[in-house]
Amino acid sequence: MTAKVIDGKAFAATVREKVAGHVARLKEENGLTPGLAVVLVGEDPASQVYVRSKGKQTVEVGMNSFEHKLDADCSEAELLALIDRLNTDPAVHGILVQLPLPGHLDEDLVVNSINPAKDVDGFHISNVGLLGTGQKSMVPCTPLGCLMMLRDHHGSLSGMNAVVIGRSNIVGKPMAQLLLGDSCTVTIAHSRTKDLADVVRGADIVVAAVGRPEMVPGDWIKPGATVIDVGINRIDAPEKGEGKTRLVGDCHYVSCAEVAGAITPVPGGVGPMTIACLLANTLTAACRANGLQEPDGLTA
Ligand code: GUN
Repeated sequence: MTAKVIDGKAFAATVREKVAGHVARLKEENGLTPGLAVVLVGEDPASQVYVRSKGKQTVEVGMNSFEHKLDADCSEAELLALIDRLNTDPAVHGILVQLPLPGHLDEDLVVNSINPAKDVDGFHISNVGLLGTGQKSMVPCTPLGCLMMLRDHHGSLSGMNAVVIGRSNIVGKPMAQLLLGDSCTVTIAHSRTKDLADVVRGADIVVAAVGRPEMVPGDWIKPGATVIDVGINRIDAPEKGEGKTRLVGDCHYVSCAEVAGAITPVPGGVGPMTIACLLANTLTAACRANGLQEPDGLTA
């Protein structure tokens, strides 16, 4: 079998179009423009790239983008005071503090100081608890994007065996909760899991989110299974020339694609969905804050 390639880039474009349509309607009918505030502390180059991309896409769908840059050595009090201002600013519907933060800042404290209704990352403990108990919450963007792709491909996920490899708070754990919410039988595997190959071989859905390049080979994949590869790993690519690199996922793409029914590529799979879902979450937050109906298909 040769797997169907799930085109995350194209899917993300449809999500953004949908968001842009709703934003235009909100402006026209309600005089409301959703706003996303992104806070960047320090000058980490990768974070700067992400933040720039978020700001650009926010404006492209018609929302307001507010960027706040603080020095790497800013005090915790300074950052908390900024979050406090954003929490009460009616023009701001979503707040994202780019992670990781410099070591002297307490990430949990900072994240939990965001108004949960504006927590478009879904990292606040209130949102984690709401998701875990099946209540309406803000859902972390990357797992939400994976869920949207899975629902689009399968329709119903009910009764499927899903294995999530990786137990991070950002991807693995919320992904497992979302799959459970869609009535999958869910296994969370991780670095200490025994007989990982056998665990994965039982899966109708594999979500790999461990950050280890190409660790899942094709012979772990059940024929016809759906493989969602969250990993983005840069590895040396001497075949492209000296000093060259390339991006690979957590799954060995070529061998997995020979066996799977569907697979997300890296790059161009899950990656583009993350920012699209951030925009969707900001729209959802703006609707909820104003007592307006949320758009269908953009939340869990
Ligand atoms: N850093 C890398 N990815 C993310 C993300 O999804 N949210 C935040 N806040 N920081 C990140």
